[in-house]
Amino acid sequence: MWSFAYLTVRDRLPTILTKVIDTLHRNKDNFFKEYGKEGVQAEKTAISFLSRLRNELQTDKPVLSLTDNAEDSEAWNEYMRRQQDLMEDGRPVSWFKSPWLYMECYMYRRIQEALYMNPPMDKFDVFKEGKTQSYFESQQAIKTLCTYLQELITNMENMTEIQLRDSFLKLLQISLWGNKCDLSISAGQDNSQKSSPIDSLPDLQRFILVDDSSMVWSTLVAAQGAGSSGKKHARVDIILDNAGFELITDLVLADFLVSAGLAKQIRFHGKSIPWFVSDVTKQDFEWTIMQTMAANHKWMSASGVQWKHFMKEGTWSYHDHIFWTLPHEFCDMAVDAADLYSTLQGSDLILFKGDLNYRKLTGDRKWEHTVPFDQALRGFQPAPLCSLRTLKADVQVGLQPGQAEKLSSQEPDWMTNGRYAVVQFSSPCRE
Ligand code: F6P
Ligand code: MG
Repeated sequence: MWSFAYLTVRDRLPTILTKVIDTLHRNKDNFFKEYGKEGVQAEKTAISFLSRLRNELQTDKPVLSLTDNAEDSEAWNEYMRRQQDLMEDGRPVSWFKSPWLYMECYMYRRIQEALYMNPPMDKFDVFKEGKTQSYFESQQAIKTLCTYLQELITNMENMTEIQLRDSFLKLLQISLWGNKCDLSISAGQDNSQKSSPIDSLPDLQRFILVDDSSMVWSTLVAAQGAGSSGKKHARVDIILDNAGFELITDLVLADFLVSAGLAKQIRFHGKSIPWFVSDVTKQDFEWTIMQTMAANHKWMSASGVQWKHFMKEGTWSYHDHIFWTLPHEFCDMAVDAADLYSTLQGSDLILFKGDLNYRKLTGDRKWEHTVPFDQALRGFQPAPLCSLRTLKADVQVGLQPGQAEKLSSQEPDWMTNGRYAVVQFSSPCRE
């Protein structure tokens, strides 16, 4: 049987590349309108670069160094040299004979190289159309969720601690399942939220394989008294994944944390280049808040206005760092991105959204399924952290003995079909 990694490199990555080429073709007139002949020439050269890239991939050619002299090029090339040193027989690192996490990340970086090398294309987001469409296709679900949030906020003052906790756990699960809506697993096909994100929660409960959400809640509560003056000052960092519906679920959760006084500061972390089809960039983040503000729906626009306000007053902030778009595992962060690691150490809780972050947290190894999550992190513990992930790649740790075997016998593709999820927590102080 073919591995999921093999099928990804053989089928899904070329499909994504073909879509990127089509997108550039379709936008030819726009490039002409905006940049004249120079724009059309840049588009042509970028397309031929991308066609060559697709051919390199499909014919298993050696991986090439980056030549665009961008901020992260040397880090990539250094990583490639390390991979090359690991090849036992001295063969070159190539598309089908390298760790697939590396190859997948590399493909997205090479797409960016095609654009960097061809200004004025360097600012163009080849995935923007798909992300925008996915946001609009989830409109009804977004309205439902924003209405729910505004109702919660209105009733918040009269809530008991238990009600507050239950509401938090619900929104955490909504943010978890928001991760189903990524456009990389679907190779760019529509994967928006159609059903009510609230009504579907009870039915989804049984698909959560590990649920550490009560520890997440305790961490937030414990952080309340952490200030020297006993004042609430908790900071939550959200390592974002996908734009569209998933981002809305993250913003809603973040709004609740601030409105309920559970966090004083939220730092969102996104990608500095278009990544894995639907990942959030700064432009997506700002666009989403503006669109939500401008919506023709009372509670949606009220939410957007509030989010804009949080950004303006600095309660919320958006950050990116090249490390998030390198192929490195997170256990390398302390050495390879020491500034980012020390920033994260200042957090009271870090939420890692999505599958790719999970793969990087666990190093994408063939772990036994019963290996504890803490162990798979291999020392990556800047602060208490939680992974909210729907399973879309064949790595999973922290399960009970027998749990994986049972799933495999019922549903052989349980790790990659996106139906299952985990909420996995780890804290530096946990024994
Ligand atoms: O499973 C397919 C895949 O492309 C993975 O390689 C990647 O980890 C994932 O999809 C992206 O999903 P997410 O948006 O949840 O990180
Ligand atoms: Mg993603």
